[in-house]
Amino acid sequence: MIDIHAHILPGIDDGAPDMDSALEMAAMAVESGVSTLAVTPHCMDFASRRNFWDQQLEMEIANFRHRLKKENIPLEILPGMEIFGTHKTPAYIRQGKMIGINHSQYPLIEFEFYNYASQSTEILQQVVDLGLRPVIAHPERYQYVQQDPAILNMWAEMGCLLQVNKGSLLGSFGRTEQALAFEMVGRGFAFAVASDAHSPVMRTTWMKDVQRLLKEEFSPATAKKLLETNPAKIINNETIRWEEPHWFR
Ligand SMILES: [Fe+2]
Repeated sequence: MIDIHAHILPGIDDGAPDMDSALEMAAMAVESGVSTLAVTPHCMDFASRRNFWDQQLEMEIANFRHRLKKENIPLEILPGMEIFGTHKTPAYIRQGKMIGINHSQYPLIEFEFYNYASQSTEILQQVVDLGLRPVIAHPERYQYVQQDPAILNMWAEMGCLLQVNKGSLLGSFGRTEQALAFEMVGRGFAFAVASDAHSPVMRTTWMKDVQRLLKEEFSPATAKKLLETNPAKIINNETIRWEEPHWFR
């Protein structure tokens, strides 16, 4: 499997607090069948620790790769970030301060959970206008999407790709999130499922349980698509053909 969303870099954000936890998360990912993982530290343009793409972040990734090799943990680590979408996001992407997953045309973007859909849509449109295709992190967790899932029709039509959290499918965030996540997969709105892991204890990198759920509740082909084939297209920066979903009404 390929995990395109994980807060595993040690001491960077609210994810792995230190190298030991990061290594534990990496070992857990490998044990559950993950071969490749994109590190996605939170990147906010208003926080004191911005985590813009720079040499420091590059060094942290190199250092983590080095430790994984030393500990014999066969996990391929790719660069990335989880961008908190604001009106400054398009400019920062243009300046190279914010990057797509593995430097692809697919930036991972999240929004405030309680907000107005119009604001998120405006920002997404500006990113699309740059010639990029935003991967929207866990839309099933946004209150305004739960209240009006038809927003997803618009985002899909704009060319955005939707990433569902494994925890949402497993019911860790609540029933509303779980029901919407199931509907997104069932209707063909989910492009990828990722861990959004934050620690080796809660919200982990373990992916086998969600893989089993997708196989059993949907199909083995769905599990493969959302956990392997589609994430591979993102990290390889392949052109992604648009597939029409079953629209929300
Ligand atoms: Fe995240």
